Amino acid sequence: MAERPYVIDRLISAKSIAARIEALCLEIRAEYSGADKIVVVGLLRGSFIFIADLVRELDMAVEVDFIEASSYGDAMESSREVRILKDLRSGIEGRDVLVVEDIVDTGHTLNHVMGLLNARAPRKLMSIALLDKPTRREVDFRADWIGFEIPDEFVVGYGIDFAQRNRNLPHIGKVRFTEE
Ligand code: IMP
Ligand code: MG
Repeated sequence: MAERPYVIDRLISAKSIAARIEALCLEIRAEYSGADKIVVVGLLRGSFIFIADLVRELDMAVEVDFIEASSYGDAMESSREVRILKDLRSGIEGRDVLVVEDIVDTGHTLNHVMGLLNARAPRKLMSIALLDKPTRREVDFRADWIGFEIPDEFVVGYGIDFAQRNRNLPHIGKVRFTEE
């Protein structure tokens, strides 16, 4: 699949992403204004650039932790069964937590992770996803904050990969295959 030639068409510019993050961080900060410190949890690996930009824009005390769930593997199809490959280092009981994801697609991944973390009794647990593909949803789940709603396109860049490639693209692009 990854061998098929493709080009990447720009969908969201780096500038638009930065502007959106600024606005989102104001809302997040207001929402967590009662907290001394929040635990920002990134879902590996797709959220690594988003979380880096997000925490630098968040003018408050943060701890950063990561969790990794199985997802696409090297394919373009989501797997409905979510497994935890790497768990948090910190306990979150009684703490204020924000989970950061790259994309909500079918919804299985973030829905599962939020359920798992919620069972650990955090004081507050919210989620943010840079991108949302609402037309693809298979479970009833919505992140508390969304950067951008996008159509049903396969996207790459800004941390997001296609078979482990294109994560280092500074903007979000969509994959277009150039031959059948
Ligand atoms: P879910 O279908 O909501 O469980 O999403 C599973 C995971 O698939 C997300 O965390 C993303 O990492 C990945 N994913 C979904 N859509 C895309 C895409 O367009 N490009 C690359 N990865 C994607
Ligand atoms: Mg992911």
